[in-house]
Amino acid sequence: MACRVARPGKFRIMKNTSAIRTAAILTSGGDCPGLNAVIRAITKGLMAHGVEVFGIMEGFRGLIENRYIVLDDKQTSGLLTVGGTILRTSRDKPHKMPMRDGGTRDMSGAAIETYRRLKLDCLICLGGGGTQKNAFRLMKEGGLNIITAPKTIDNDVSGTDTCFGFDTGMAIATEAIDRLHTTASSHHRVMVVDIMGHNAGWLALGAGIAGGADVILIPEIPYTLDVVAESLLSRMRHGKMFSIVAVAEGACSVDELAGHGGEEEGGKKRKGNSKEPVSAVLAEHLEKVTGLETRVTSLGHLQRGGIPTARDRLLCTQFGVKTAELALRGEFGNMVGKRGQAFVAVPLEEVVKEKRLVPADHPWLLSAREVGTCMGDEVPLAYRS
Ligand code: F6P
Repeated sequence: MACRVARPGKFRIMKNTSAIRTAAILTSGGDCPGLNAVIRAITKGLMAHGVEVFGIMEGFRGLIENRYIVLDDKQTSGLLTVGGTILRTSRDKPHKMPMRDGGTRDMSGAAIETYRRLKLDCLICLGGGGTQKNAFRLMKEGGLNIITAPKTIDNDVSGTDTCFGFDTGMAIATEAIDRLHTTASSHHRVMVVDIMGHNAGWLALGAGIAGGADVILIPEIPYTLDVVAESLLSRMRHGKMFSIVAVAEGACSVDELAGHGGEEEGGKKRKGNSKEPVSAVLAEHLEKVTGLETRVTSLGHLQRGGIPTARDRLLCTQFGVKTAELALRGEFGNMVGKRGQAFVAVPLEEVVKEKRLVPADHPWLLSAREVGTCMGDEVPLAYRS
């Protein structure tokens, strides 16, 4: 059911000098602060060139069900600072839509049909790794003109130095660690804080370093319980009477990894977003092994809520402007990536090949080790006695 809730604004009458006349934007996957800022920048950038812009509701589900709004000056006004997404979002995949009977059905045809019915010249998909894959699939199967931009607090999309939303998620998690410090020190406790990030450690690592966590556990570095326990006990022996342990939701112990089949199963790790939070299990084990009083904090969706940071607003505006630029030039089949200070077109084909995980030689990781942070694989030099 189509729902045009607004008329195109005044920019509509401007002369169209671009490769496209109509474009639609959708947001897919988990929301994050900054999505609205990108929607605003893209819409303004396109409308200034006389392009009619639609907003598809609820990600790919809205594309399948032909649900959209017209994005105009009025719709995008005041959006820069607003969290979430005015287009709403879903995790639906067109080729695997959940059905009432519990099964799934390939609804790509319906999505392609909406694209054709709206006479779209371009579909802009804002989302993380899953969205990039779904968009790429529609491009290959339906010949849709696709452009994407990398959204996720997980920061794990390939082809870009950073994703929008990440900075805000990191700022929220950092503030949480700051606050945990005072209560941890008052009680002489170990505080285990659970940080999102799916199967990548960017968020826990960034916030852990910025918040001065004493132990940071990320999926890329399987941890050993005894190493973590010894680091905490040794800190105590060195007069540090409390500790903060920042754990990425996808972190996994060496033992767990072995239990999952380890290398033989392609190194399959604990899935971030698993029902059993790693922090709870870890805290229980640590308390048992060390005898230190331990508490758990799970930040959960707080990390995705509220207003974007100034850095994210700036980043989102730049991502949006570059996305509009690619659309206007007809440079389809690309994701906008940030490389250094430049915003560049990255072929989607490259983007979907792999996730961007924290490399073992990443400067953040090296800095964390240098300041004596335990990364779960070895007791830091300063605490080896
Ligand atoms: O991808 C963003 C993210 O917040 C991940 O960090 C987390 O694993 C997942 O989404 C949570 O998903 P949901 O909001 O569907 O529970």
